[in-house]
Amino acid sequence: MPTVTQSGLNPAKICHVAIELKTLLQNLSFIQNQSSDTEIVAMVKANAYGHGITKISQVLQEKGVKHFGVATIEEGLTLRQASITGTILLMGGSGFTQNIDAVLSAELTPLISSLEELQILKATAQKTKWQKPIQVHLDLDTGMSRSGILIDDNPESTLKAIVDCLKKNTNIINLCGLSTHFANAEINNCAYSDLQLKRFLKALHYLDNAGFHQTILHVSKSSAILTNLGHSDVVLSKTQRQHSIWVRPGIALYGVNPLSGANQLPGLAPILSWRAPVTVRKAILKGTHVGYNNTWTAKRDTEIAILRVGYGDGFSRQLSNRGHVLIQGQKAPIVGRVSMDLTAIDVTQITKKLGNESCSIGTMATLIGTDGGESISAQDLSELCHTIPYEILTNISARVARLYF
Ligand SMILES: Cc1ncc(COP(=O)(O)O)c(C=O)c1O
Repeated sequence: MPTVTQSGLNPAKICHVAIELKTLLQNLSFIQNQSSDTEIVAMVKANAYGHGITKISQVLQEKGVKHFGVATIEEGLTLRQASITGTILLMGGSGFTQNIDAVLSAELTPLISSLEELQILKATAQKTKWQKPIQVHLDLDTGMSRSGILIDDNPESTLKAIVDCLKKNTNIINLCGLSTHFANAEINNCAYSDLQLKRFLKALHYLDNAGFHQTILHVSKSSAILTNLGHSDVVLSKTQRQHSIWVRPGIALYGVNPLSGANQLPGLAPILSWRAPVTVRKAILKGTHVGYNNTWTAKRDTEIAILRVGYGDGFSRQLSNRGHVLIQGQKAPIVGRVSMDLTAIDVTQITKKLGNESCSIGTMATLIGTDGGESISAQDLSELCHTIPYEILTNISARVARLYF
C-alpha cells in the first residue's frame, strides 16, 4: 500500500479506494482465456468505472492491451496525455462532431452513428486539409435503439448512403471496424440477442459485398463474453476469417460479475476496496435522533461513530438507515441519513465485544471489501440502492483518493 497519496496525506487515514493491480491483470487473463483469438478493447470510460482511468489504462497497456474504449473526447485526451498509444475508440453518441479538431489531433477513433456525422467529419477534414485518412468504426444499432445506425432486416436502406459516402472519400475516411451492442447479453440463449446478431451479420454481408473487407468486428461486452453469446465471437471469427474480432469488456476487468443474481464467478475477483475513517465518536442516550430529518432514533443508549464519507464521495444517500459497514471484521449498521460528507454508524455491539478502543478516531471502516471474515461487494450495495454495481462504482467521486498496489 502506498504510504502517501499524491497530496502527501497518509492514505490509511483518509477516505480512499485501494485498487489491486495484480488482480486486475488476473481478471484480464481470465477474460482473454474466455475469448481466445480476439483482441481486448478495455472499456475505461467513466474513469475506468471509478477505478482511475490513467493508472488502469497504463497498467493494461504495459500488459499488452492495445485498444481502449471511452465515452467522451475528454477521456480520450486524458488517455493520450497518459501516453496511451493504441486505438482509442470513442463510443457512439459521444457528440464528437462538436469538437472534431480535438478528435483528429488526438487520433481518436470515433464510432459513427449517422451519415450526418460522416459528412461533418469529411467536411472538417477537407476544410483543415487533414493529411492522413481518419480511422472510423460504424456503430450499428441492431436493437438497442440508442446510438448507432439503425439496422433492420434490410440493411441497405440505411447503409447505402453511408457506403456511397465512404467510397467517395477513401482518401479521407478509412472504415476499419463494425460494432454493435447487445441489449440483453446477461441472458443466456436470448432470442433478442440472436436477432441482434442476425442483423449485424446481414449488415456485415452487405458491407462485404460493397467491398469493405478488412474490417474489425466487435460486439461483446463482459456479459456477452461470459455467457454463451461469447460464441458469437467464435461464430464471427470462424465465418469471417478476413476480419479480426475484438471484445469490449468493462465490468469484468474490474472483477464484478455482470450476470445478475449470479455468485462471484471463479476467475474474476473484485479489485477495489473502499474505506473511510472514524472521525468522531459519541455516546448518545436512548431517544436521541441521528442525522437530518430525525429519521433514526436510538432505541437504547447507543455508541455512535461518524465516518468521513457521504454522498459527496459517492456513498449513496439511498443507504440511509440501510445496510452496514465493517469495522474490525464486524458489521456496524448505518443509522440516520447519509449526508454529503458524513455517515453515522451504530458501533454499540462492536465496542461491547471488542472494547471502546476498537472504534476510535482513525479506525478505518470498510464500505466495499473484506474485513476479517466479512465482506461487502459493490453488488450488495447496488441491491440496497436498487441499482447495478456499475452505478455504485462509477459514482465514487473524484475527492476519494485512489491508491494502487
Ligand atoms: C458500447 C459499450 N460496449 C461495451 C461496454 C462494456 O460493458 P460491460 O461493462 O458490461 O462489459 C459498454 C458499457 O456500458 C458499452 O456501452
